[in-house]
Amino acid sequence: MGSPNVSKILVIGATGYIGRHLIQASIKLGHPTFALARPITSSHNIEKINLIQSFKNNGVNVLFGELNDHDWLMNMIKKLDIVFLVLGHEPSIQLEEQTRIISAIKEAGNIKVYRYFPSEFGFDVHRLQILEPAKRVLAIKVKIREAIRKEGIPFTFVSSNFCCSYFLSRLGQIEATGIPTDTVFVLGDGNTKVIFVDENDIATYAIKAAEDKRTLNKILYMRPPANIYSHNELISLWERKKKIALKRICVAEEEVLRSLTECPQPFPFFYAIAHAGFIKGETTKFDIDPTVGVEASQLYPDVKYTTVENFMDQFL
Ligand SMILES: NC(=O)c1ccc[n+]([C@@H]2O[C@H](COP(=O)([O-])OP(=O)(O)OC[C@H]3O[C@@H](n4cnc5c(N)ncnc54)[C@H](OP(=O)(O)O)[C@@H]3O)[C@@H](O)[C@H]2O)c1
Repeated sequence: MGSPNVSKILVIGATGYIGRHLIQASIKLGHPTFALARPITSSHNIEKINLIQSFKNNGVNVLFGELNDHDWLMNMIKKLDIVFLVLGHEPSIQLEEQTRIISAIKEAGNIKVYRYFPSEFGFDVHRLQILEPAKRVLAIKVKIREAIRKEGIPFTFVSSNFCCSYFLSRLGQIEATGIPTDTVFVLGDGNTKVIFVDENDIATYAIKAAEDKRTLNKILYMRPPANIYSHNELISLWERKKKIALKRICVAEEEVLRSLTECPQPFPFFYAIAHAGFIKGETTKFDIDPTVGVEASQLYPDVKYTTVENFMDQFL
C-alpha cells in the first residue's frame, strides 16, 4: 500500500459524492489512505455499508468517528500528512463544521508537513458573484478560506467548476431527470462558456496536487481545454451524436431569476448555480492570476482526462 515516503491521506466525508472519488484516486496513486466515516446507525443503510466494505477491500483504513470529538480528531490528524475535507453543502451547517478541523489541525501542531483541502470543489468562491439561495452557502466557504489563511495552515483550494454528472446527464435542464428527447431549454442566450470536469478527474488532479509544491497555498483551477462548452455547443454535440434535432427554447434571464424563488426545492440552489455558470460566465470570465492559482491540466498533462465528448457517449 504505497511506499513509506508517500503521504498519508485522510478523507473526511469519504462516503459522500466527491469523497468516494478521492478515496479511489488516493488508493490508485499509491497513498496510504484513511477514510473517516460516521458510524453506521442503521442496518438499512445498505449503500453506505457496501461502500465502506469496498473501501476496506481496496486497502483503505476506515476510521469511524465524529468531528465533535476534538481529542480523537486531533490525535488522528497527528498521524497523517494531508487532509481532504469534503463535507457537503446540504445542509450547509456541514460547511461550518470545518472550523472543528481547523482547530484540530492547529492544535495537532504538525502543520509543517500538512496540506489541507477544505470542502470547495466548485466555483472560485472568493471572486464569485452568485444569487441566493446559493450565495449564503458559498459565503461559508469564503469564511473557511479566511480562517485557514489566518491560522497559517498550508492549503490548496480546489476550484473544479461544474461536475460532469449532474449537468451533462440532463443536458443542463435543472428540473429534468434525464436528457430530453424533444424540447430543450437554453439558459439565457446559450452562448456563455462553462467548464465541466469529470468527478474521477477532479479526484485525480486533487490527489496529485496534494504533494506538489506548485499547488501549495494556491487555488487549483481545473480547466481541461476540451471541456469548455456553451449550452448551445453542448446541445449541438448531443444532437450530432444522437442524430436528432431538438427544439430549443431560450429562457430569458428574468425567467431564470423567477425560478430561483418560485420553483420547488431543491431546485432554487441549482438554478442559482446554473445562472452563475451558464448566464454570468462565473467559471470562465477571468484569467487565472498566477500569483494565486495554477491550472490542473497544465500541471498534470499526463492525466488523460475524460472529455465532455466522451462523457456523453454513456447516454447514447
Ligand atoms: N462542482 C460541483 O458540481 C459540485 C457538485 C457536488 C458537490 N460539490 C461540492 O463538493 C463538496 C463535497 O460535497 P458532496 O456533494 O461530496 O457532499 P455529500 O455527498 O453531501 O457528502 C458529505 C459527506 O460528509 C460526511 N459528513 C457530513 N457531516 C459530517 C460530520 N459532522 N462528521 C463527519 N462526516 C460528516 C457525510 O457522511 P455520512 O455518510 O455519514 O452522511 C458524507 O460522507 C462540497 O463543497 C460541495 O459544495 C460540488
